[in-house]
Amino acid sequence: TMFGTLRAPGEPALIAGHRGDRSTAPENTIAALTAALAGPMVFVETDVRLTSDGVPVLIHDETVDRTTNGTGRVDEMTFAELRSLDAGSWFSSVHSGEHIPSLEEFLDLLAESRKKAMIELKGVWSPEAVSLVDSLLAESGMRSRVVLASFEPETLAAAQSHAPSVERAILGREMLTDPVAEVSAVGAIALITNAKVLAANPGLVDSLHDVGLGVLIYTLNEEQSWAEALAMGVDGIITDTPSSLDGWLADT
Ligand code: G3P
Ligand code: CA
Repeated sequence: TMFGTLRAPGEPALIAGHRGDRSTAPENTIAALTAALAGPMVFVETDVRLTSDGVPVLIHDETVDRTTNGTGRVDEMTFAELRSLDAGSWFSSVHSGEHIPSLEEFLDLLAESRKKAMIELKGVWSPEAVSLVDSLLAESGMRSRVVLASFEPETLAAAQSHAPSVERAILGREMLTDPVAEVSAVGAIALITNAKVLAANPGLVDSLHDVGLGVLIYTLNEEQSWAEALAMGVDGIITDTPSSLDGWLADT
């Protein structure tokens, strides 16, 4: 039996590059995503938001302030406005000229690789907006290589009804009241949670594994935290430093 469709018992844990490989390039840009997709890990994690004119784009924050040379809310800017921003110079002058990728652009990049993507839908998504994502996944042939993730129950419900053939995962910052029931209720394959929740709930991984569900942990960048996570039996680790984690796993 598999833990979700993520990993069979005994197989090594998965590694996911958080926002691409944000240790070497500006997060969620083509440069960071290309770096992550070129590495040995199976998954790349990224964040998606909608522009004011309804285009799904890759950006973590609600505003463009931290990761571009502009200011303002993503959902109050058109795709053309976002596209004119420099999303690389804040990280390094080498990366000036990087822009905010559209989801479509990322899916084309993913299609050229053999990797999978953990796509986090940030905030609350309507069924119509999730349908748009599902169409983009279908057109790019990427439905089977993507797991949609969200912290928001409404977004997960919209994904279940409007992107039913795409796998999904629940993100949880706090312990869920009844993790098995809540993950199962939205037909998710896994819970993605943090070290605090896992440390405070020693039986959590086993209780999800017992019913065939997976557990991933975010965001771990230190060797000791990787060792602790693996000892807890997680199926995968989301990290800002995917090549370091891969090297450490190879040496362990
Ligand atoms: O997907 C796991 C993790 O990325 C959630 O936190 O804030 O980095 O999107 P955040
Ligand atoms: Ca994320």
